[in-house]
Amino acid sequence: MESRGGYSPVITSADGSVEVHLEVDHPGFSDPLYRQRRNNIARLSLNYVPGDPIPYVEYSDIEHSVWAVVSKELSSRHDQFANDAYRGAKASLQLPTESIPQLSDVSKLLEPLTGFTYQPVAGLAPLREFYGSFARRCFFSTQYIRHSSVPQYTPEPDIIHEVVGHANQLADPKIAEIYLAVGESVKRSETPGALEFLSRVFWFTLEFGVVLDHGVPKAYGAGILSSVGELDTFQSATILPLDFVEMGREQYDITKFQPVLFSLGSEAEMYDRLLEFYSIYGDDYFEQISAVA
Ligand SMILES: [Fe+2]
Repeated sequence: MESRGGYSPVITSADGSVEVHLEVDHPGFSDPLYRQRRNNIARLSLNYVPGDPIPYVEYSDIEHSVWAVVSKELSSRHDQFANDAYRGAKASLQLPTESIPQLSDVSKLLEPLTGFTYQPVAGLAPLREFYGSFARRCFFSTQYIRHSSVPQYTPEPDIIHEVVGHANQLADPKIAEIYLAVGESVKRSETPGALEFLSRVFWFTLEFGVVLDHGVPKAYGAGILSSVGELDTFQSATILPLDFVEMGREQYDITKFQPVLFSLGSEAEMYDRLLEFYSIYGDDYFEQISAVA
């Protein structure tokens, strides 16, 4: 799907071997060790059966150092550019900053706060499965980390995005409630069009949403909050007032900086408007919106 098209496909062959297909411009394309690593981690995630212990990934020193470098870079920017709710939730979650946490560790930190737990996924999960899992307070997460040659860039959502971006969001009880509502809205979105539209609104809200703080845009979206480049540039984007119909029209590319963002006027408005939308969204709402569009 367009909305999550940056994922590198995971291909399982008849002999059981697993290969993550990287594009030629992927930073890890010419690194055989990295590619082997991606294949091994994908195989671990693929073998996961819900209910079993989360597969343990033995991360290398290089991988841990990528986490540490990026965590530090993001942290200094969060102080300046993240909205209050995210900063408060991040302080309560207390993710490790020097080493990559196992997904089981993320769950241990997150579950007491909002009931959400993490489950591994090798790559692209179908939209219905991915968003639908929120209704069970579950978040599907990749376990690999970006290539060490460019720690500030990843063409696809890696564990830094999934955990620093989403787990910190999910540590906020009101945001967690919005995720639950997203999961419930999937059940009312039986048509492919309604589901695709839902994923677009999710993209422009919980991935790339901004909220105005005394007129200054602050990020609450995980896509911005997990990207050094986005945090450095999002305030220069074209920022429009929240408009769900417009979100359906706006083009976006997961591999590029977002040129157009949508804002809410305050934290309270962010919670209220998003919860209201996701609590009623479904096929009927999509039909009405489509008629307007
Ligand atoms: Fe995401």
